[in-house]
Amino acid sequence: MQTLRRALRYMAAHWALQLAALAFALIVTASGFVWPFFTKYLIDKVMWPQHGTADQRLHWLNLLTLVALATSVLGSLAAIGRSWLFALAGERAAADMRRDLFDHVHRLPMAALDRRRTGGVMSVVQSDVDALQGLYSSTLVDILTNLLTATAAAAIMVVQSPKLAAIGLPVPVLFAVALSRFGPALRTAGRQTRDETERVQNVLQESVSGAREVRVFGRAGDEGARFMASVVRLIGARVRMAALGAANGSVTGIIATVGMMLTMVVGARMAIRGEITAGNVVMTLNVLGMLFGPASSFVNLFSQVAAAIGAADRVFEFLDAPSEPQPDRPRLAPPCASGVEFRDVGFQYDPDEPDVLHDVSLTVTAGEVAALVGPSGSGKTTLVSLLPRLYDVTAGSLLIDGVDIRDVPPRALRDLIAVVPQEPFLFATTVRANIAFGRSGATGEEVEAAARAANAHDFITAMPQGYETEV
Ligand SMILES: Nc1ncnc2c1ncn2[C@@H]1O[C@H](COP(=O)(O)OP(=O)(O)O)[C@@H](O)[C@H]1O
Ligand SMILES: [Mg+2]
Repeated sequence: MQTLRRALRYMAAHWALQLAALAFALIVTASGFVWPFFTKYLIDKVMWPQHGTADQRLHWLNLLTLVALATSVLGSLAAIGRSWLFALAGERAAADMRRDLFDHVHRLPMAALDRRRTGGVMSVVQSDVDALQGLYSSTLVDILTNLLTATAAAAIMVVQSPKLAAIGLPVPVLFAVALSRFGPALRTAGRQTRDETERVQNVLQESVSGAREVRVFGRAGDEGARFMASVVRLIGARVRMAALGAANGSVTGIIATVGMMLTMVVGARMAIRGEITAGNVVMTLNVLGMLFGPASSFVNLFSQVAAAIGAADRVFEFLDAPSEPQPDRPRLAPPCASGVEFRDVGFQYDPDEPDVLHDVSLTVTAGEVAALVGPSGSGKTTLVSLLPRLYDVTAGSLLIDGVDIRDVPPRALRDLIAVVPQEPFLFATTVRANIAFGRSGATGEEVEAAARAANAHDFITAMPQGYETEV
């Protein structure tokens, strides 16, 4: 409930749009009842010969047609307004949420980000927000319009004929009960399908991004087998889903058909006995038909809301994950005048794993050039990534000019450090923006000077767009 409330708060920010959309939704719902009334009066007032003279009946026909036409055009126009406004409100709420999530991604400590694989973060920002957007832009509208439709329809049926309503009204209820029986199984199958789809995508993505390794190590066969194994599991899940869906459709279809037939037969017999008019019967049937939509919506509603809450749980769990630690009493960033000291530094990536670094003490004075040499996996990269606080030491301390770096705001600390990464990473933007990535205010000359220093200026200018080439 608390999650739902928090999710709805994102929508409350756009309440004016919602309210306007709601007004349109009311018009749309009301216009849905034009047709049942039209047919009722068409039968009772126009087609029933006893009703009046041909002129009177023609007059009724013209009036009916005019009203029906006008209201259905109005209803269709209102439907455009409703969908547009709800979509706008939903999209904006979702965009707000994506902005918060995106901001948080780069506030999380690296260790927390390592634990969620890239795919996990993407699915929160994309899929989970999408699921919530469904809640914002359609589920809530559905709840409201369906509630209105159902109430109005039931009331109309009772007014037409309480006896016929007593026979007809339980039909959509039974229909909903049958649907809800299938619900849990369908949901489980749906979740399995999604899980298996994600697994297939993971295997595919890993295999494609590791294509070099797959070839060099001759693993194509094994990778193929791994991929097919995940595909086979996906097939199983999808077939189960299709079979369940079909069974669900048939059972509920039978209930609806038999129920409508029963109501029709009883209504026709009442009309023969003169208890009600033919128009009453047709109208009751029409209105009854309008109840199946809301009935199935209500059944799906719980799972939709449940799915949205599940998605919201993941979104908020992500948003609530603690950000990078910030010093309580930040001391100003030292200019690094005397040097860097690792004092009895210990570090482990995972509390359950052995230390990667143990009792490392090392001093590098300002102006000194130091090289770390050691076998692969001995912790060189790890040691260096402690400096900009990508990770925090788990024992000992790391000092710059005698100041523990945990007392320096991460931003100020990182401004002191230049990094040439082992694996270059290019963002999908211009060469210039990639070079200036570490200093967004860098001038053209500075970028060029950096490129010259890296022996890159010549091949950059050889490209057709030079520094403006998109990479
Ligand atoms: N992000 C990480 N999460 C968990 N373990 C890691 C991570 N990065 C490196 N390690 C482990 O820490 C150890 C040291 O790795 P690393 O610092 O990359 O060594 P080097 O750079 O000297 O080759 C290795 O055992 C490696 O598996
Ligand atoms: Mg390394």
